[in-house]
Amino acid sequence: MSIQKDNIARLVERRKEARLGGGEKRIEAQHAKGKLTARERLALLLDEGSFEEYDMFVQHRCTNFGMENSRPYGDGVVTGQGTIGGRLVFVYAQDFTVSGGSLSKTMSEKICKIMDMALKLGAPVIGLNDSGGARIQEGIDALAGYGEIFERNILASGVIPQISGIFGPCAGGAVYSPALTDFTLMVKNTSYMFLTGPGVVKTVTGEDVSSEELGGATVHATKSGVAHFAAENEQEGIETIKRLLSYIPQNNMELPPMRETSDPISRVSDKLNSIIPDNPNKAYDMYEVIAEITDDGDFFEIHRDFARNIIVGFAHMGGRGVGIVANQPRMLAGVLDINASRKAARFVRFCDAFNIPIITLVDVPGFLPGTQQEYGAVILNGAKLLYAYGEATVPKITVTLRKAYGGAYIVMSSKHLRGDVNYAWPSAEIAVMGADGAVDVLYAKDIKADPEHAEEIRNAKKEEYEELFNNPYQAAEKGYIEDVIEPRNTRFRIIRALCSMEGKKQDIPAKKHDNLPL
Ligand code: HXC
Repeated sequence: MSIQKDNIARLVERRKEARLGGGEKRIEAQHAKGKLTARERLALLLDEGSFEEYDMFVQHRCTNFGMENSRPYGDGVVTGQGTIGGRLVFVYAQDFTVSGGSLSKTMSEKICKIMDMALKLGAPVIGLNDSGGARIQEGIDALAGYGEIFERNILASGVIPQISGIFGPCAGGAVYSPALTDFTLMVKNTSYMFLTGPGVVKTVTGEDVSSEELGGATVHATKSGVAHFAAENEQEGIETIKRLLSYIPQNNMELPPMRETSDPISRVSDKLNSIIPDNPNKAYDMYEVIAEITDDGDFFEIHRDFARNIIVGFAHMGGRGVGIVANQPRMLAGVLDINASRKAARFVRFCDAFNIPIITLVDVPGFLPGTQQEYGAVILNGAKLLYAYGEATVPKITVTLRKAYGGAYIVMSSKHLRGDVNYAWPSAEIAVMGADGAVDVLYAKDIKADPEHAEEIRNAKKEEYEELFNNPYQAAEKGYIEDVIEPRNTRFRIIRALCSMEGKKQDIPAKKHDNLPL
């Protein structure tokens, strides 16, 4: 064999070895757990043939605990670049078959390298996590590695989209990288995220809890809000990541991708003219409104199962990518509470950072009262949403469908927070509070003084109040809304406003950074 051929043969052998990660037995064990390997995941994620691997032959440098005797190529993570739908992305996928995907200093260097490249080239980063956390044998070096990744997550935040897929364990401080990224997806039954596992929890608090109950996908997608998506399986998880990418731009200097549609811009929806029930206490489904106004009724929801009293997600209108924020009257009457505020604030800030216009559909009775909310700092959490809307400089188009009461009226992208185009349906009620509450406050003395006629007084005053405030015309009279629109025309009116907003430029005062109420 010539030297050249010999060299090539050795390269092929090395590549083969590197692709096996921790070896066939461990790959089998991974499959037996219902999990794919790092390479199988990347093959599903990236366009066929597009993967360009980096640092395949990197090996760890640890010499503690006999580690020098096992130095598999790649060191537990597969990194590189590829395309998804023809668009450049940078990826890393931890390989559980090598030391449980635990993070060594060299693994962190591989991850940091692709993060640096992504930032330099303005492309999204997708990390697929499946790891036992810091590599115990490396001690402080492994912690340093995490720190380097966190710092890059922070510097890249708001510059390039960062997406975390949790496809196995993600424990201890390792959870903070996903927490710093824009979107986190978990897979049901095979992934979990927690700071301390069930064992430590039992020792410290005496609580008996399984991994799934403590930090499984369902828990984080419904209770904590840590996960934006909970996929049924890995394939669904990867499809969700790809779909998410199709709605967002490559970086903060680009606009979200346009999507061709045959859905006419001027399509009217008669259904919307009768969607609001006559009874003000009866709910309707905001999803139906969204489906009526977006291109082809398409809507990609974020945080679907968390704080369901508010809906957030991406869609296209007239081919343009938009973010939709909508109160959901069917859930807690669409009230704003701590979780709804956190959820919507995070979404509004993502849209603003990445040039995605925000469409807000308002039907909100106010903030949820009570000790639980006050003790949980609904004041600060509500302020997050207020702040997010107030600082956002992307086009902001708002339609008030029914209620817009009190502070929640201001928060939900009102004119006063630099809302660009604010519309209301004729059914809108824009007021300090609902008629019942207002009458009880204003006429408490009269009602108390004449208990026999309490009901009559109440009804008469309610009527007076409703006549004055239960309509959008006071707001229209003062220019707080641009127009009262017929519901059937909502799609057309929003798209026309969107088109006119295309060249929008707006600044915020120069500052080092803001001091968002955390
Ligand atoms: C080194 C590790 C490891 C780790 C797992 N392995 N975690 N090696 N450092 N952190 C190795 C195991 O020794 C084993 O090696 C192989 O990976 C597979 O692990 P198993 O335990 O056999 O797998 P499984 O039963 O599926 O259990 C997975 C696991 C468990 C739940 C993740 O391994 C585990 O509890 N690991 C430790 C988790 C942890 O406490 N990490 C530190 C968190 S603190 P062999 O050779 O036998 O196959 C942290 C700090 C970060 O991460 C701070 C950042 C600020």
